[in-house]
Amino acid sequence: MKLILKKGSIENAPKGYVRIRITEKARGVKGSVKENGEETLEIGAGRPAEMSRRKFILLCRSIVQAAKAHAFKKIAIQFDNTPELFKNLKGISPEDISQMAAENFEMADFEFNIFKTKPKEGWHTVEEILLYGKSSATIEKAVRKGQEIGKAVNACRTLANMPGGDITPTTLAKAAKAAIKGLPVKVTTLSAKDMKKLGMLALLGVAKGSTEEPTFTILEYKGGKGSPIVLAGKGVTFDSGGLNLKPSNGMYEMHMDMSGAASVIHAVALAARLKIKQSVIGLLPAVENMPGNNAYRPGDILKSLSGKTIEVLDTDAEGRIILADALTYAKRFKPSVVIDVATLTGAAISALGLHASAVLTRDDALAQQISDAGEASGDYVWRLPLWDEYEERVKGEFADIKNVPGGSTSRYGGTIDGGMFLWQFAKELECPWAHLDIAPRMTSAPGDELAKGAAGAPVRLLLRFIEQWPHTAKR
Ligand code: BES
Ligand code: ZN
Ligand code: ZN
Repeated sequence: MKLILKKGSIENAPKGYVRIRITEKARGVKGSVKENGEETLEIGAGRPAEMSRRKFILLCRSIVQAAKAHAFKKIAIQFDNTPELFKNLKGISPEDISQMAAENFEMADFEFNIFKTKPKEGWHTVEEILLYGKSSATIEKAVRKGQEIGKAVNACRTLANMPGGDITPTTLAKAAKAAIKGLPVKVTTLSAKDMKKLGMLALLGVAKGSTEEPTFTILEYKGGKGSPIVLAGKGVTFDSGGLNLKPSNGMYEMHMDMSGAASVIHAVALAARLKIKQSVIGLLPAVENMPGNNAYRPGDILKSLSGKTIEVLDTDAEGRIILADALTYAKRFKPSVVIDVATLTGAAISALGLHASAVLTRDDALAQQISDAGEASGDYVWRLPLWDEYEERVKGEFADIKNVPGGSTSRYGGTIDGGMFLWQFAKELECPWAHLDIAPRMTSAPGDELAKGAAGAPVRLLLRFIEQWPHTAKR
């Protein structure tokens, strides 16, 4: 999508560009009319008193969605000609607003259509936006940055949307390599043999039921001098549940169980593309969780890279097992902070619904910083506890740790159990750690004004976090 900044008023928009008129009416499309002979699309921004950062994001997306619905390919927009509508946003800098608009125009324009035959009239996407108003070098820069962020989110969505038959651990590693092409990012992929040598027997255990070889890919971007931020993303390229097979209605979207890995790939690539002065490492443990002949079984005990043993009570709680080895592997980078990102539990969806990922950490300052980055970016998160009281539930019967509590209370607080399991490995790190359970944000929700399918969370949050780490807040 071309996004061109224009000085002055939308009244000067050239012929052929549909003008967007933003009004105080309830948010949404009010239809297209001819005004002074020019096609004009009226869009409601909602009551000025209710305008907020969150509402502005949705407004930007609804403009693009409305244009797509009308098959308008070229549109002209101006926000600052109706300042009374946006007076609530006065505390946000024009640069921040411009970046946000660009990000969300890109995100709303995205459609996952690579497997569809192109219609004769072409795809209904917006090709060009003229953005009228006061322009400056810093605003221009903010818009370009916003576009890069939006594109990275969309690249993450494309990768996560790819069918399980196309994205396997091997092709996921290739996708990581492709994403950083031309960027100063080093990529290394460990094979099953390499992992065996290292002792990553937890990850390898999960992989056993599939004919697809597991991979473990490491992305290294050295943009700064300090110790790196390590991001680890769950890369289960298809989660059938393994021998604890998922019910059929729960399996359909499980090609997206590598959404954590996809977000880490594109967050690292984005940090490099934007030349952020930080060092960032991406760890991508990748397996397919299948119930093949050689599959790991309930009752199996796996020895993790850390040396701790894991008792498998449920083969469908596989994400935490592969992440355990990734968290241990993170240690060798002497990180300043580690964040893992995973579509870990259906319970996170039960707890939070579809509009927030769960964040779990024992570090209050880190929780605050991640929540702030979430709020500012639009990748919203909400904290759940990791108190000692929960720790008993993951202690093993016949091994050090069990992957789920088992028994009649097993279904209670499943997201916390997932986090508590990971904490058993993360506590060995000598730095703050947080876990993001992005299952609620794996796909877009009704009202998001985004195409169906992968939502691209939390690429925007991770970028903000990378830019702002370490926080000045006391820890
Ligand atoms: N990948 C799933 C979690 C998931 C479910 C993500 C729905 C996105 C949407 C994960 O591996 C899983 O199966 N978790 C189990 C854990 C249970 C066995 C303790 C779950 O959520 O049921
Ligand atoms: Zn599972
Ligand atoms: Zn899974």
